[in-house]
Amino acid sequence: MDLARDILLFIHLVGFAALFGGAFVQIRDDVKVVNSAMLHGALLQVLSGLLLVGVIEGQDERLDQTKLAVKLAVALVVAVLCWLNRRKEGVPSGLFGALMLLTVANAGIAVFW
Ligand code: HEM
Repeated sequence: MDLARDILLFIHLVGFAALFGGAFVQIRDDVKVVNSAMLHGALLQVLSGLLLVGVIEGQDERLDQTKLAVKLAVALVVAVLCWLNRRKEGVPSGLFGALMLLTVANAGIAVFW
């Protein structure tokens, strides 16, 4: 189970890299889009996060439920916004900034809460 937990955490971090990296590379572009790295990264975060919770709770380790609820809510907002905008040829910079901010916020919550 320890190996499953480590593999899932690894996938979770790869998802974060894809989501954040997919946005970061566009930071200076005039027209920003939800690229496939962002979309798949966002979906991967929700899936791998939920599986991580299952594996960790299965090891009888208690996790902070409030922290998880906040992370899940933020991740769902990011995933839904990425999904809805995945085929658009450009997204408003406010929306794009919000996606980046929420993603970084969730990483901050994971580490500092
Ligand atoms: C944009 C979405 C997300 C980002 C950027 C993110 C980021 C991170 C990061 C950087 C870590 C490693 C740091 C650490 O272990 O302390 C982590 C761990 C973890 N995340 Fe996420 N996460 C996201 C979504 C989620 C979701 C939706 C869930 C489940 C509800 C979740 C559950 C977990 C769990 C259980 C761990 C492992 C904690 C541990 O090993 O003690 N994450 N996350």
